Amino acid sequence: MCGIFGYLGNKNSLQACLKGLKQLEYRGYDSAGIAGLKGGKLYFTKKAGKISVLEEKISLQNLQLDLAIGHTRWATHGKADDENAHPHFDDAESIALVHNGIVENYTFLKEMLQKKGFIFRSETDTEVIVQLIAYYYQKNPKLNQAVRKALKEIKGQFAIALIHKDFPDQIIAATRESPLAIGYSDDRSEVLISSDPNAFLDEKLHILFLQTDEIAIVKKDRVKVFDKWFHPIVKATELLDSGFEPATKGEFEHFMLKEIYEQPLTIQKTLLGRYSEEFGTAELEHLFFSSGELQSVQHVVILACGTSWHAGCLASLMLEDMARIPTHAEIASEMRYKNPIISKDTLVIAISQSGETADTIAAVREAKSKGAKILGICNVNNSTLARESDSCLFLKAGPEISVCSTKAFTSQIALLSLFTLFMARLRHLDKEGGLHFLNELKKIPRLVRNVLDNAPQIEKIAKKYSHFPHFFFLGRRYMYVTSQEAALKLKEISYLNASAYPAGELKHGPIALISPHLPVVAFCANKQTYDKTLNNLMEVKARGAPIITFAPHGALEIERIADDIIWLPATIDELATFPSSVAGQLFAYYIAKERGTDIDHPRNLAKSVTVE
Ligand code: AGP
Repeated sequence: MCGIFGYLGNKNSLQACLKGLKQLEYRGYDSAGIAGLKGGKLYFTKKAGKISVLEEKISLQNLQLDLAIGHTRWATHGKADDENAHPHFDDAESIALVHNGIVENYTFLKEMLQKKGFIFRSETDTEVIVQLIAYYYQKNPKLNQAVRKALKEIKGQFAIALIHKDFPDQIIAATRESPLAIGYSDDRSEVLISSDPNAFLDEKLHILFLQTDEIAIVKKDRVKVFDKWFHPIVKATELLDSGFEPATKGEFEHFMLKEIYEQPLTIQKTLLGRYSEEFGTAELEHLFFSSGELQSVQHVVILACGTSWHAGCLASLMLEDMARIPTHAEIASEMRYKNPIISKDTLVIAISQSGETADTIAAVREAKSKGAKILGICNVNNSTLARESDSCLFLKAGPEISVCSTKAFTSQIALLSLFTLFMARLRHLDKEGGLHFLNELKKIPRLVRNVLDNAPQIEKIAKKYSHFPHFFFLGRRYMYVTSQEAALKLKEISYLNASAYPAGELKHGPIALISPHLPVVAFCANKQTYDKTLNNLMEVKARGAPIITFAPHGALEIERIADDIIWLPATIDELATFPSSVAGQLFAYYIAKERGTDIDHPRNLAKSVTVE
């Protein structure tokens, strides 16, 4: 997703901006640019491609700018080329602006401005914003008012930062339903602006977060914030711990592999201190709902996207099986248009690793407008989701850098397992049952370690199948969701086509596709549905498809059916996803590695999708 960065201070603004943009690289982008002011003159450089391309061009100029704004672009309107890269400018090149979001009414505004003689150089929606500000500034040279008037006409969410050469000592920042943080140093010698606090790494800063329709006038020695009527408002600040170390790959070739191998530890960190051996239940800090409120919950709606939605699907199975609460996991981008059925007894759980996914945040706001209580499950403390939730439980998994989510997923299901245990014990589950589940949950980090120890075998099998262009993934119940997640991993990092189906669904159509050219990957680690899944594999085998199974040790019947078997440590059905999905992560990783794709920055993908 697009990243915004701004710097005003006593360091080299250009270099400070480049450093900030590099911290935003993990979010995924296809072009980058920087603009700055020096002595009332506006300078800029912007290029398609990686920041290194921009850096090369900038080093030729090596300017000492007074202040600068920068941007990493994930293309929405217009291809990824130099012209469409941000910053964008007005015709007179007096204003430079960077933007994250979508101008939903940009066609109308662009035509209106073109009729007034404005010339557009790019295909982007962003250019409309800067030209509209210029239009109002021409009519009345009060920049703050021009910005306010222009933003009022913009439909859609946005975060922007802009500079004007007539105001050489300030950056203006504004947001609507999109993250924008401003951090200043203790001695007020510098101010940083970013759409993602991760860009403030290894800085000790006082941070404030702009809320929707707030505008900030940022100067070196002070930050003034106004509401949409330009009334000044006082903002609370948080101290960002500068102990935050930039993530590094260490001895791993990719962040994804490093984060896969972190999982025994990250799952342990998610669980640590959050359960009671005495009562066989969970103890969840920051769960600001009373036991009475939770006991009265009659319906759970889970909102999420992508891998987080898969975690939600698993949670819905667990909550129904163990806590007997009707639960369904909604794809957030769909739920918003469903006129959701929310009552006072509905608990909404919103799951988001980044806490910034626009579809999830929008769905949460829709649910809140209907009076829902919101429980957030998130991995980023200062995120929008954390602020929008009534209660937010944190994964404690540490920053997840690779676009492909792995450790966040297993920490999500670990935390959701604890929440399910808590809800079940609040209701009908007895202590013995709670202790049994808890004991199985506590074994998971060791079981995941066992899977990682088998990585060479998984790599061998993955390589054998890495030339196939299409795959079917199958499973039932918890293993169906596991197959969906494994298929997504393969798709997003290897660019191969992988479809996941409930194994029982195959005979209702998809089996027509089965052939010797279509490997079938089956997740078989659910005792409840094991026999039925074997039957499905026999049907597939009879039609000549290569069969790869992920199966628990001891499931020997599999040997007469599968062409290749990835053996897994056994556990209860509700928790079988942990070893199975970690093995699925490695399977996808080694196929992608064999195919030579950019595993940590897959094409077209972003780490946090902050546009709807
Ligand atoms: C997962 O591997 C993908 N990168 C993607 O599906 C991701 O899970 C989704 O965009 C949701 O992100 P979030 O958890 O930050 O909301």
